[in-house]
Amino acid sequence: MITSQKDFLITVPIGLLQVPALAKNSTKSDRREIKLSLVIPTFKESQNIPTLIQKITHLLDSKIPNYYELIVVDDDSPDLTWKVAQKMTLKYSQLKVMRREKERGLSSAVIRGWQVARGEILAVIDADLQHPPETLLKLLAEMERGADLAVASRHVDEGGVSEWSIVRRFLSRGAQVLGLIILPGVVGRVSDPMSGYFMVRREAIAGEILSPVGYKILIEVLGRGNIRWVGEVGYVFQERQEGESKVTRKQYIEYLQHLITLRLAKWPVGRFIRFGLVGFSGVFVDMAIFYLLREVVGLGLTRSAMLSAELGMINNFLWNDLWTFGDISRSQRGWQKRLKRLLKFNLICLVGLSFNVIIVNLLFNLFGVNQYIAKLIAIATVTFWNFWINMKLSWRVTQIDK
Ligand code: GDD
Ligand code: MN
Repeated sequence: MITSQKDFLITVPIGLLQVPALAKNSTKSDRREIKLSLVIPTFKESQNIPTLIQKITHLLDSKIPNYYELIVVDDDSPDLTWKVAQKMTLKYSQLKVMRREKERGLSSAVIRGWQVARGEILAVIDADLQHPPETLLKLLAEMERGADLAVASRHVDEGGVSEWSIVRRFLSRGAQVLGLIILPGVVGRVSDPMSGYFMVRREAIAGEILSPVGYKILIEVLGRGNIRWVGEVGYVFQERQEGESKVTRKQYIEYLQHLITLRLAKWPVGRFIRFGLVGFSGVFVDMAIFYLLREVVGLGLTRSAMLSAELGMINNFLWNDLWTFGDISRSQRGWQKRLKRLLKFNLICLVGLSFNVIIVNLLFNLFGVNQYIAKLIAIATVTFWNFWINMKLSWRVTQIDK
C-alpha cells in the first residue's frame, strides 16, 4: 500500500538547484507539450489546497486546457497536505504532487518543482488563497506578449493589500528599501520585489545555479536570470482564511543574507582589489608630499595637508584611469573626457571624505566606539562608496562582469 502510494508522488530531484533547459524534439511524442507549469509550495495547507486546485483548474481549463500542469511541493506537512493533494490527482489529471521529506523551505521547494516541470513557462503561487487565482490569466497574457518575467504586484494599479497593519506595511516597505540600497540593479526592476506570485520563461533561468536563501525567490530569479522584459500585473493580497503564515523574524534575517550573497556574487572583485591597491598607494604619495611641503618647502600645516591630499587623489585617479578602469578609459579617449573623469572622481572622493568624518563622529560620539575602530570602519565604508559611485559615475561601467 505504501509503495503504491509512493508511485503517485513525483520523485524529489537532488543535487544543485538548477532548472534544466527543455529537451528539444523529445522522442516521446505521445507526451503533450506543456505551456505552463505552476508550482504550489505548501506547508500545512490541507484546508486550502482543495479549493485552490479546484479554482485554478477551472480557470486554466477555460484558457489553456491540457497545456498546463500543477505541481504541489509539500514539505511533509504534519497535516498531510501532500496526501490531500495526492488524492485529488485522481480527479485532476494535470495535478502532480511532490513530498519532500529531507529538504525544507519555500524557495527550494519552488525550484525543486520547476526542476521536474515540463512547461516553457514556470510559475509559482501561494497555496493559501492570498494570491487570487484570477491574476494567473493576466500574468499569462503578459508572458504571451513577450515578457521574460511577469510579476503580480501589490504596488501597481489595481494592486494592494487588504487589511495590513501599519507595522506590517512598514516592514514590507522597509525590506524593499533595504533591497534598493544593497541591490538597486536587481530590486529596482520590479515594484514588488517581495512578491511570491510570478511567471518566468524557462529559458531565462535554465542552467543557472540558483541558491535562494529563505523566502524571496523572485530576487534570486531577477539576480541570476537573464531577464530582459519584465511585465507587472496588479493584485490585491488577500487575507488568509485558513491555516497560518510561516513568516517569522528568521525570514527577515535570511532576506538580508540573501541580498548580501547576491551582492557579492555580482561584485566586480578584480576591479575592487585594484581600486584598493591604488588607494593604498595614494596614502604614501599623500604622506611623502606632506613631508616635502612641511620640511623642504616650509608650508603651513593646513595648506600642506590639503595640497598633499589633493595630489594623492590625483595619483589615485591616474592609476585607476590607467589600470583599474583602463579598459573603459581606452574607449573614452581625449583629454577633455579624461579631465571630466578627474573632476568627477575628485568630487566623489570629497563627498566620501565628508562621510568619513561624519561616520567617525557618529560612531565615536553617539555609539561610544573606540576612535581607531571607528576610523577603520569609516575608511572601509568610504572605500566601498568611492569605488561603487566612481565606477558608476566617473567611468560608467555598465556591464559588471570584470
Ligand atoms: N514547501 C514549502 N516549504 N512551502 C512553504 C514553506 C516551506 O517551508 N513555508 C511556506 N510555504 C508555503 C505556504 O504553505 C504558502 O503556500 C506559501 O508558501 C506562502 O507562505 P506564507 O507563510 O503564507 O507566506 P506569507 O503569506 O507571509 O507571504 C507571502 O507574501 C509574501 C509577500 O509579502 C508569500 O507569497 C511570499 O512568497 C511573499 O513573498
Ligand atoms: Mn500567505
